[in-house]
Amino acid sequence: MRLDKYISGCGYASRKEIKRLVRQGVVTVDGETAKKSDMDVSEDSEVRVNGEELCYHEFVYLMLNKPAGFVSATEDKKYPTVTELIGGEYAHFNVFPIGRLDIDTEGLLILSNDGALAHELTSPKKNVYKRYFAVVDKPRGESDIKAFAEGMEFKDFTAKSAKLEITENSREVYIEIAEGKFHQVKRMCERVGKTVTYLKRVSIGGLKLDDSLAPGEVRELTDAELKLLK
Ligand code: URA
Repeated sequence: MRLDKYISGCGYASRKEIKRLVRQGVVTVDGETAKKSDMDVSEDSEVRVNGEELCYHEFVYLMLNKPAGFVSATEDKKYPTVTELIGGEYAHFNVFPIGRLDIDTEGLLILSNDGALAHELTSPKKNVYKRYFAVVDKPRGESDIKAFAEGMEFKDFTAKSAKLEITENSREVYIEIAEGKFHQVKRMCERVGKTVTYLKRVSIGGLKLDDSLAPGEVRELTDAELKLLK
């Protein structure tokens, strides 16, 4: 790959800045001063800028605590998007949200530029359970647990068996679903006569939302967290 691609893949600088750094003679490749920003390097090359070694990676995996008011998209004509919450250091990775949360839903959203992972996590065939905390307008009952466990037929899809877990507060429940269809949790709750008044995703598969992330905050997944998803 080109040297400038390698360096920008490390979040270091724009291509124009990289040209300038190369001209200044502060970029080395395997110990030799780089002469051209489009020279060929490999992923294993040792690239340094001002003596600082860079570490190239193709993909980035971010955990966002999505706040209400943002759409799960990279562009939108009407509303702010979740990618606007991602810091400039990740701009060159062109991340996109993996799966969707409604504009008023909060909580765990993964953003990445890894299309294969996106497929793994969103394909209904893969049965990756997503867990939500929901507040509903009426007290839940035992029959709701049964209705969720049996799965539900909708015009456009069949929801597989889902889990409704009760808490001590009769209007607060945890819900686990295998798919991630449009408004799925809200529609399943409507089916048992309840309206969701607050919804937050708390985990995807084995990955839990980091409680220390305030709404709108983002951080990279650790290697251990990434393994939970793959
Ligand atoms: N189900 C919903 O109804 N909304 C979401 O945002 C996610 C799941």
